[in-house]
Amino acid sequence: MALVHQLQTPRLRLRQWKEKDLEPFATLNADEAVMEFFPSVLGQDESKEAASKYQKKLEENGWGFWVMEKLSDGAFMGLVGLNRVDDLPIDDCVEVGWRLAKEYWGSGYATEAARACLEFAFTTLNLEEVVAITTVNNIRSQAVMERLGMHDAGKNFDHPKVAAATGLREHVVYKICRERFQKTTN
Ligand SMILES: CC(C)(COP(=O)(O)OP(=O)(O)OC[C@H]1O[C@@H](n2cnc3c(N)ncnc32)[C@H](O)[C@@H]1OP(=O)(O)O)[C@@H](O)C(=O)NCCC(=O)NCCS
Repeated sequence: MALVHQLQTPRLRLRQWKEKDLEPFATLNADEAVMEFFPSVLGQDESKEAASKYQKKLEENGWGFWVMEKLSDGAFMGLVGLNRVDDLPIDDCVEVGWRLAKEYWGSGYATEAARACLEFAFTTLNLEEVVAITTVNNIRSQAVMERLGMHDAGKNFDHPKVAAATGLREHVVYKICRERFQKTTN
């Protein structure tokens, strides 16, 4: 078991999963607006399973998909974090990802949290590069990638776990290297 890192930004805390997160996480995963670019919304059991998978990875590695909590009132806002990708038709890599409850969109929270994850990836984990992946239709998510200084790697691929009938199969890969991240933040 690894020491689980916790990250903090001016407005947010990225922390481990707790029992009290399960209810707001299930509500978020059942929201059609939040899940517009996923194959389907998630039921309560699927949501619980996902949270325990994320917590297990945090305990194994010390990093992963953290809960995003609002510092001012402790509210559960969603998830953000890093994930090793080795099961997609792209080179093995570490991705940064995010999913926020709708009420927290439009305030810069995803970018603020993801920037802290990139900082952690490049300084603590000493990675050379981090990617972000989403369906080509998810422009809002791609806007976060661009705000982070990431660029389209030109490596679109069809996601093997997404049925063609959903219209969400083609995915885009954005990436950023350590040097560029350090230049954009200094
Ligand atoms: C993708 C997602 C995280 C983007 O959230 P977001 O709130 O649009 O992104 P940010 O946190 O970067 O916020 C940027 C917006 O906040 C605004 N903003 C307001 N106050 C701000 C502040 N203090 N600092 C920075 N931006 C601020 C920006 O102007 C921008 O507004 P705009 O969208 O009108 O241009 C969110 O839509 C989501 O959770 N979607 C569902 C899940 C999903 O699709 N995840 C990705 C799957 S791969």
